[in-house]
Amino acid sequence: MTPSPHDDLTGARVLITGGAGFIGTVLRSALAAAGARPALLDNLSAYGPTPLTLLGTGPSDPDLTIGDINDQTVVERLVAEADYVVHAAAHSTVQGCTTDPATAVRTNLAGTDSVLRTVAAARHVRRFVLLSTAQVYGHGAPQAPRTGVFTEDQQLDPLNVYANSKLWAEGHTRQLLGVAEKDFAILRPFSVYGPGQVPKPGAASWVVAQFTMYAALGQQLLLNNGGRQLRDFIFRDDIAAAVVRALTAPKAAGQTLNLGTGTPTSVRDVAEHVRRHFPSADIVDAPQVAQDPLGACADTARMRDVLNWSPAVSVGEGIDRYVQWVRTTPNAIPDWLRAETSTSRITSWGAPAAL
Ligand SMILES: NC(=O)c1ccc[n+]([C@@H]2O[C@H](COP(=O)([O-])OP(=O)(O)OC[C@H]3O[C@@H](n4cnc5c(N)ncnc54)[C@H](O)[C@@H]3O)[C@@H](O)[C@H]2O)c1
Repeated sequence: MTPSPHDDLTGARVLITGGAGFIGTVLRSALAAAGARPALLDNLSAYGPTPLTLLGTGPSDPDLTIGDINDQTVVERLVAEADYVVHAAAHSTVQGCTTDPATAVRTNLAGTDSVLRTVAAARHVRRFVLLSTAQVYGHGAPQAPRTGVFTEDQQLDPLNVYANSKLWAEGHTRQLLGVAEKDFAILRPFSVYGPGQVPKPGAASWVVAQFTMYAALGQQLLLNNGGRQLRDFIFRDDIAAAVVRALTAPKAAGQTLNLGTGTPTSVRDVAEHVRRHFPSADIVDAPQVAQDPLGACADTARMRDVLNWSPAVSVGEGIDRYVQWVRTTPNAIPDWLRAETSTSRITSWGAPAAL
């Protein structure tokens, strides 16, 4: 490994849209540790006061501007001060986008357009980094070169509103910033997890957090589709490290990169690992959730080459750290989650899309 490229970030102003979210707050810490000056823009729509406090942010955070990415005045002011922009703001769950597509369009399409047009016109921004998602791969196109592995250049197969909105954001980034001759990188994180992650109502994803919290409450761990789905779980600190590198790595210019570990883990494996900490936890099969990709792990060759970096935390170690966090932070378990039953969970997964 060559020396870290962090010197380029010393004193640099990095705007993180969605900066008060799960990834945004971890990224803020990593950037500050690298000598950068992070600035957060967030409308605080995703979380209530307790999760925000646990993420180390909230209305009194001096680095935070409370505002919407569709508010052109605010976006222009913050982008004008920025050397780099990380676009993490999103209506960020599959279920949330399916049941409220209007908000998905407003945030993931119109909001992304607002940020991109401002960056395209800005003089100082050195690189724009988009947080897309591995959901763009869907089940994986049948003619993909390798089964069980998603490679950046393979045909994409987005299965839901969220994945489609992110794929649109990728194309819009290439198109607008390509025409403007601005530097950018597109990142496709796989399943990110770790301390600070608090599930959102109705979402079937974020299984490390969900299984741990349900097990801690003595509730069943529901495996939709038998937990056969494969995921690539990447620990929150590794994602933050990868994004920091993607801001300055010369070879990241214009690239699309998977961010994963390259290790496939089934959802059942996660439940079983969580049960090691909670031996009485009951693992139960449940119906398949519509539009839930079968998944695969990331082909990480390009990520490792371009960023000259590899993830440090294995999934077993990461789950152990998450369990420890929930045990020492019981108020992380939201009241709505405490009130759920297995039946109410299955019913909410099956909620029809709003018209
Ligand atoms: N967590 C994962 O596993 C994962 C995986 C792949 C991709 N991603 C992507 O990474 C990014 C960050 O994800 P996260 O897990 O931190 O999600 P998050 O929901 O915790 O953070 C997103 C933040 O965006 C903010 N936001 C939403 N709409 C906004 C708007 N109109 N204006 C300003 N702020 C707004 C929310 O309040 C929230 O704080 C998202 O774009 C997400 O799609 C996440």
